[in-house]
Amino acid sequence: MQSLYDLLKKHHQEQVLRFVDKLNPGKSSELLHQLEQLDFDELDQLIDEYVKHSPEMKIPADLEPAPFFPLKPETAGREELYLQAAARGRELLQDGRVAVLTVAGGQGTRLGFDAPKGTYPITPVKRKSLFQYFAESVLRAGTKYDRELTWYIMTSKLNNEETQEFFEKNRYFGLNPENMIFFTQGTMPAIDYDGKLLLADRNSLALAPDGHGGTLLALRRSGCLDRMKSDGVKYISYFQVDNPLVSVVNPLFIGLHDLEESDMSALMLAKTEPFEKLGNFCISNNKLMIIEYSDLPEHLARARNADGSLKFIAGSPAIHILSREFVSELTREGRLKLPWHRADKKINFINDRGELVIPAEPNGVKLESFIFDALQLADKTLVLEADRAEQFAPVKNQTGIDSVESCREMLIERNARRLERVGVKVPRAPDGKPAVKIEISPLAVIDDEDARSYCQAKNICELDSSVDNVYLT
Ligand code: UD1
Repeated sequence: MQSLYDLLKKHHQEQVLRFVDKLNPGKSSELLHQLEQLDFDELDQLIDEYVKHSPEMKIPADLEPAPFFPLKPETAGREELYLQAAARGRELLQDGRVAVLTVAGGQGTRLGFDAPKGTYPITPVKRKSLFQYFAESVLRAGTKYDRELTWYIMTSKLNNEETQEFFEKNRYFGLNPENMIFFTQGTMPAIDYDGKLLLADRNSLALAPDGHGGTLLALRRSGCLDRMKSDGVKYISYFQVDNPLVSVVNPLFIGLHDLEESDMSALMLAKTEPFEKLGNFCISNNKLMIIEYSDLPEHLARARNADGSLKFIAGSPAIHILSREFVSELTREGRLKLPWHRADKKINFINDRGELVIPAEPNGVKLESFIFDALQLADKTLVLEADRAEQFAPVKNQTGIDSVESCREMLIERNARRLERVGVKVPRAPDGKPAVKIEISPLAVIDDEDARSYCQAKNICELDSSVDNVYLT
């Protein structure tokens, strides 16, 4: 204990031990364990760089919009490439070379939902949770490609238990539990503006998830990377828990990543307005990077091309393919060299008298790393344009933009278009919106090909306009 005290004193953090004498030994062990995990030299540096100073995001002078593979191939050569890529993607899926990864460690504070975000009941008719929707999609993809997929879910200490219980209670929504792997991301201590570690309790530091950049190291520490290797997995299909529209595996995207020998690839969407809350794809010094919406200077966000389109048009839906070997390389020494991002937050803590303080204003800093910063560390990257209406409807808020409401509408609209594309007549209201709420189970349909065979098999040519809801399963 004396040596720990000396170490903390050397780093001006001995205040975290001020209640230890009053705790029984069992209780203090949690705090001692947390302290043992910390690298205090590194922490000193971080405090100096990110807490005592507030680093300005440096925007490179040579910043340009990133090039991307367009949604519609513009030449015959490209068309051929996309066909080959989609075929290659399907082959990789059939060979079991792809694993699915969902990051679900965030707190979902904006949604005002006091449970893991993935348990939110999202679908328009059956109110299936985000997790169920993904689970059924993973199950269907496994059947379709005749190869069961392994689904990795990253949780955080805040929601790991509840997330796993949810899946257990729901019998993994039909998935084989052996192929469902939960792993927990790391934490970072919260630091007050004087550079001191805060206590959440007498026997615990105030800790926060270390950002989705923590996924990479967590994959290594948890043994998931080893499992992927022994399973023969080459590529990881990565997406966020808040977007039920995502294709959990996208053959074109996977195949293109493979054919182009990319280390890390990203889907992109055309932004709807200069300040849409999406990371921006840029290049500097020939390196692809994402500059977060909050960091892109206003004049760049507003800049336009001669034809009036946005110059920095490419926004990130946070959908990636990562090569397993790239992740392995990035985390080789058990350390990940991603930059940290500072977030000023209201952090609950206990004061000198041991009383809980709930601050009304930000009182300290949480540090997070972002997975997309790994793009800058990759030798080879690529960006592929996606169709927003088919791929992206994130649930961030209850109402308005990127909300539960807008997501449900987009799910219904996508289902309507999918049915129409395969020749089914869908009743539409005068404003053009589907006149019935349509939900299609991903157990039956995850793409247009599935929709076609499903509607043929069930002989569906028209939806009944006299009902409120249609559920196809
Ligand atoms: C994020 C991206 C943004 C992208 C947008 C698309 C960041 C910083 N920005 O914005 O570039 O355009 O999504 O919707 O991510 N998560 C963890 N652990 C953490 C933190 C987050 O697993 O420690 C997960 C969350 O569960 C969620 C996802 O990461 O699935 C995104 O987190 P969120 O904070 O909602 O990011 P946004 O600001 O919405």
